Amino acid sequence: MFDWKKQVILLTGGTGSFGQKFTEVIIKKHPPKILRIFSRDEFKQYEMEKKFSHRCLRYFIGDVRDKERVDRAMADVTLVIHAAAMKQIVAAEYNPTEAIKTNVLGTMNILNSALDNGVERVFGLITDKAVSPVNLYGATKLTMEKLLIQGNSYRGLGNTRISCIRYGNVAGSRGSVIPLFNFQRKGKILTITHPEMTRFWITLDTAVDFVIKFIEKMQGGEVFIPKMPSFKITDLATVLAPQAIHKHIGVRPGEKLHEDLITIHEAHYVREFSNHYVVAPAFSLWEKTSQGKSGGKKVPDNFSFKSSTNKKFLTKTELRQHLKVINGEVL
Ligand SMILES: NC(=O)c1ccc[n+]([C@@H]2O[C@H](COP(=O)([O-])OP(=O)(O)OC[C@H]3O[C@@H](n4cnc5c(N)ncnc54)[C@H](OP(=O)(O)O)[C@@H]3O)[C@@H](O)[C@H]2O)c1
Repeated sequence: MFDWKKQVILLTGGTGSFGQKFTEVIIKKHPPKILRIFSRDEFKQYEMEKKFSHRCLRYFIGDVRDKERVDRAMADVTLVIHAAAMKQIVAAEYNPTEAIKTNVLGTMNILNSALDNGVERVFGLITDKAVSPVNLYGATKLTMEKLLIQGNSYRGLGNTRISCIRYGNVAGSRGSVIPLFNFQRKGKILTITHPEMTRFWITLDTAVDFVIKFIEKMQGGEVFIPKMPSFKITDLATVLAPQAIHKHIGVRPGEKLHEDLITIHEAHYVREFSNHYVVAPAFSLWEKTSQGKSGGKKVPDNFSFKSSTNKKFLTKTELRQHLKVINGEVL
């Protein structure tokens, strides 16, 4: 049984949307011994300190690119949750060296430091953009996933186990379609990239709940994928602004018509559980744990988890209910 009370947690990207929601939930439900928030900007940490006060919280300024600082932050840590990332698609495309330094080299620093310090569990946050990537952000997150999962090979006689989660765009997150439509509906014209476009739906609360559950369950080597419903962008537009005109602007560079969470090429390694999937490593070059190869049931060889062919689509009524939670009284 995983004991949160005993954990010294290093949460990289702790001041971000995920980090703050995780902090809120974990100090309420399972307060750890120490929760070390690791990020660069002192102002975001200052703001966060005003919002959350708990004896377990520590605020640590640092950059994942700086190995010396990462090593310092890793002292006595038992669990790393690696959420720090450069994640704006266009910014990553325009500044590829910077995205690689943070998302790839930063992950190598976290991994090496965790292995050297004998950290028990490392958990990485990946995105649907990492699956068959069409932009640099996705490619760096795919590399991050590969680095972390293969890190299990390098633990030697140590006990470090490393796993990841992949999930889709967080509903209502900064720069996503809901805030855009909320803004555009005042002018009664919504820009729709493509009338057939679909996306997965997950809220921050649900993502955090899954992360907590998967950290408790992980053996090392698994990529966990929560089962998430899909929705049509046009349905979202209709629910948010029934009177508005839809202006089609075409799929943007670096954007997909539909998102993938598991491709057909991975089907062979996938096991299905009641509310999630587990992708076991294709190159399982280490021993000791089940690596996600046991439990659940095998999926058919032609299985894929794609937003367009998902078994569960949100109806307009369900979308309206979900949006009420995100938009409050606005609807
Ligand atoms: N949002 C989504 O829709 C979504 C979906 C799937 C997966 N994810 C993944 O979930 C993770 C968290 O996403 P989020 O939405 O919480 O992102 P976010 O709100 O943009 O937060 C990013 C966090 O990372 C920190 N950070 C950035 N560069 C850093 C560096 N070089 N060193 C240390 N800290 C750094 C930022 O703080 P400072 O700028 O102060 O350093 C901030 O705390 C990311 O890995 C992302 O890829 C997000």
